[in-house]
Amino acid sequence: MTSVLAAAGPSVYWYVTRSTGAVALLLLTVAIALGVADVQRLSTPRWPRFVVDSLHRNVSLLAMAFLVAHILTSVLDSFAPISLIDAVIPFTGSYRPFWLGLGAISFDLLLAVTITSLLRQRMGFASWRAIHWLTYASWPIALLHGFGTGSDVKGGVWLMALSVGCLAVVVAAVLARVISGWPERAAWRAAALGGAGVFSLFLLLWLPSGPLGSEWARRSGTPPSLLPPSQSTHAHASTR
Ligand code: HEM
Repeated sequence: MTSVLAAAGPSVYWYVTRSTGAVALLLLTVAIALGVADVQRLSTPRWPRFVVDSLHRNVSLLAMAFLVAHILTSVLDSFAPISLIDAVIPFTGSYRPFWLGLGAISFDLLLAVTITSLLRQRMGFASWRAIHWLTYASWPIALLHGFGTGSDVKGGVWLMALSVGCLAVVVAAVLARVISGWPERAAWRAAALGGAGVFSLFLLLWLPSGPLGSEWARRSGTPPSLLPPSQSTHAHASTR
């Protein structure tokens, strides 16, 4: 059985899960940057405000489409036991439950943001805006999910470079908003700045001993039967 799996290699779904996850993270980052530019009324004659506004909306919707593809392919990939329930109800699965659960929380928050944005005309501005701010929570949670679940964190540099680049963009967006005087209360501005700083510092300290450290597959909650050869005998897992 082991040799059959080794010969078959990873399924095409696995490649699509990884690439759609990375693209979704990138698009979410761009959506946040465009959202901040939109709310700051940043525009130029070449990029009038309605263009920034519609780009923000369309990039956000595209990110959701990539997320749906990301989730469906991870469920269809028979390598790991992941169900649609695991994608929406956090911490219920058996494959890296905590790290996959973070992905589910992030997806649920973004679903709430997307649905309320589509129904914006029918709801009060204050409630819509309060829900929209959940985007700021969903983004770091999604980044942690990618680090904790992704196969490409340790092997190559591209996912790490993409993640660090996205982090820099989001921290710059938070900085831009805080400098412009948002939120109105100084304590909230300090909390936003502190949160961005603490999160970046946490990643710096955690990554070397976490996903970049040894035996992360085992420590992150991969079922024993799927662990790589150094920790188990499952051949297919050796590439993950
Ligand atoms: C906002 C939500 C999410 C974002 C932005 C996101 C993004 C990512 C990223 C960047 C990776 C790393 C890919 C790589 O290593 O190349 C990843 C991995 C993964 N994600 Fe998500 N994800 C999200 C939600 C979810 C949800 C809800 C599920 C549940 C089914 C899920 C399932 C997975 C799986 C199984 C992997 C590991 C793929 C592998 O073996 O490398 N993700 N995700």
